[in-house]
Amino acid sequence: MPQGVEHQQLYLDNAATSFPKPEAVYQAMDAFARTSLANPGRAGHKMALASERILDDARHLLNQLFHGKDPERFVFTLNCTDALNMAFKGVLTEGDHVITTDLEHNSVSRPLRAMELAGRISLTRIPSDSGGTIDPDAILKAITRETQLIALTHASNVLGTIQPILEVGRIAREHDLLFLVDAAQTAGVVPIDIQSMYIDLLAFPGHKSLLGPTGTGVLYAGPRARIQPWREGGTGGDSSSETQPCDLPYSLEGGTPNVLGVAGLAAGIRYVQERGMQAIHEHEVDLIERLWRRLDELPGYQVFGHRDRSRRVATLSLKSEMLSAAEVGGILDQSFDIAVRPGLHCAPYIHRALGTFPDGTVRVSPGPFSTTEDIDRLATALAEIAL
Ligand SMILES: Cc1ncc(COP(=O)(O)O)c(C=O)c1O
Repeated sequence: MPQGVEHQQLYLDNAATSFPKPEAVYQAMDAFARTSLANPGRAGHKMALASERILDDARHLLNQLFHGKDPERFVFTLNCTDALNMAFKGVLTEGDHVITTDLEHNSVSRPLRAMELAGRISLTRIPSDSGGTIDPDAILKAITRETQLIALTHASNVLGTIQPILEVGRIAREHDLLFLVDAAQTAGVVPIDIQSMYIDLLAFPGHKSLLGPTGTGVLYAGPRARIQPWREGGTGGDSSSETQPCDLPYSLEGGTPNVLGVAGLAAGIRYVQERGMQAIHEHEVDLIERLWRRLDELPGYQVFGHRDRSRRVATLSLKSEMLSAAEVGGILDQSFDIAVRPGLHCAPYIHRALGTFPDGTVRVSPGPFSTTEDIDRLATALAEIAL
């Protein structure tokens, strides 16, 4: 339980945002807010420079963690949705063809669909197999002369299934296409190597497995992607130019950035580095496997997605044969004080494919601080609900 809190709901909704954060994140934000929370600026006073340094340090940490080309290519955004919109609206032009999948979150599906409906782009949506994995060969076959971009989630936020991004990245590079990876469910818990995985655009939130606060997200803009800014304004640097500067990250960061959030994000990244991404992943997947074993013995529940722990993150979707997902979620919340996420999880296409549309499923997502006792408490509650 976070320090200073008397009652805390059992939180198993880390796929939405992680909670609690490591103690170091709260401390870093508190200390920064009390001493240096000035508007960052390269040519400013000491406090402005201290604030700018927070952003620089975080970019270096990100570049190290994800093996980018250089720290300046990491652009701070509001969240993953903001980063994805910045990428799609900044790189796609009239007549482009985009390949995407039925696993995507609405933050990918909706901007692309809106551009398709406006007649600006054409779109191919590749279905996943029954276990929730995309076949790279299906992507290869969908490439046309107009294809400009492949947009793929690294892991499904409904099923937790990890996608073969290295294979898809290789296909994209061989065909001179841009490759965008939505790492909302993997950044901080599954290793990502931008360069060796042929990633041109990497969008991720700071507030999920990187353990930063809400209001943080990042877009990595690789050298093969030319991104037109869609938000122009002050950058804290050269004010004499009439138009937005062209250099990254400032070209895409108009306005005062969430430097307080980034101070927390940097502490979250350091926590992940110290505990180790693999150790966190193992811990979380162990918990999911424990829950799955309990569900194996419980009649009345169906679990979705493949069970190969080496190809999944700690997100599990289940469905009661008797009650709707909303009812199970509501009972867990109201009667057992357990927070899970029922519904469509902003991913309607995969729910249609699973046959769980429009009711959806109950999504359980433990985090780095969840325990075996938490999982046992959930399993006992599910058993009582099934009676
Ligand atoms: C796969 C995926 N993409 C994108 C997003 C959007 O992230 P954010 O809430 O940071 O905008 C989410 C959020 O759950 C997600 O799971």
